[in-house]
Amino acid sequence: MSDQTFVTLNDGRRMPQLGLGAWAIASEEAAAVVHTAVDAGYRLVDTAAIYGNERGVGEGVRTCSAGREAVFLTTKLWNDRQGYDAALGAFERSLDRLGLDCVDLYLIHWPAPSRGLYVETWRAFMELAAQGRARSIGVSNFTIEDLRRLIGETGVTPAVNQIELHPRFQQKALRDFHAEHGIVTESWSPLGQGKLLDDPVLGDIARKHGKTPAQAVIRWHLELGLVVIPKSASPVRIAQNLDVFDFSLDAEDMERIAALDDAGGRIGLDPLTFA
Ligand code: A2P
Repeated sequence: MSDQTFVTLNDGRRMPQLGLGAWAIASEEAAAVVHTAVDAGYRLVDTAAIYGNERGVGEGVRTCSAGREAVFLTTKLWNDRQGYDAALGAFERSLDRLGLDCVDLYLIHWPAPSRGLYVETWRAFMELAAQGRARSIGVSNFTIEDLRRLIGETGVTPAVNQIELHPRFQQKALRDFHAEHGIVTESWSPLGQGKLLDDPVLGDIARKHGKTPAQAVIRWHLELGLVVIPKSASPVRIAQNLDVFDFSLDAEDMERIAALDDAGGRIGLDPLTFA
């Protein structure tokens, strides 16, 4: 059983530091995967409207052994629903699919700067937060420039910015900006979609601690104070990915992983151009 750690958001709420990423999990399987995760000790589940599995994830959260209130649930607004009224409508549909009357965290999935709608969208999120139906609100894939604009025009700082972040793409400048502004950094594709797990440096560090490379990488995110949501649909790996609270990385490990950073290491889409 894990000894979960938490971060405190800028709205005073607590968020588990390690959770299950539910992208690429089919809706029909999602309830069972959420049950497996909650039984293993997970208390954070991350989905999105675009993942097409809110029904299954919601069912899993509503019917899990720990009970709905024990689980911190995140979902996200898809790009084609940006704008004030569209976002409010999309939120209702997400709640309907989830079968819930509120979510713990609602994120704008991408800034889509070419559409020019994220400030308006954020005003809808502020309304949802005021109603208490999105208990916390944040963004995903926002750049420093997007964050400055959002904060400057609305005066409300996102609680979280969920971004691509893994040892090959470490996002130091954005992390520093978040730290200055009290924004929690949440890492998506924290394992580099599994592609970086054969890196010899990570293998070496993992062996030193008697852990797997995935566990070493998850531990690295935790040491940096990040929220981390590895995706797995496998019960063995779901359990393995949570078994990271009984060791820590030392300064040398952290330096060796810092050296794996690569400015060209992005795997996913680029927020400057994706709309
Ligand atoms: P699977 O779902 O079959 O476990 P990321 O979270 O960075 O997007 O990475 C997800 C990918 O990494 C998935 O393909 C997942 O496969 C794989 N993965 C997740 N946990 C582990 C692990 N502990 N060891 C190896 N691969 C893993």
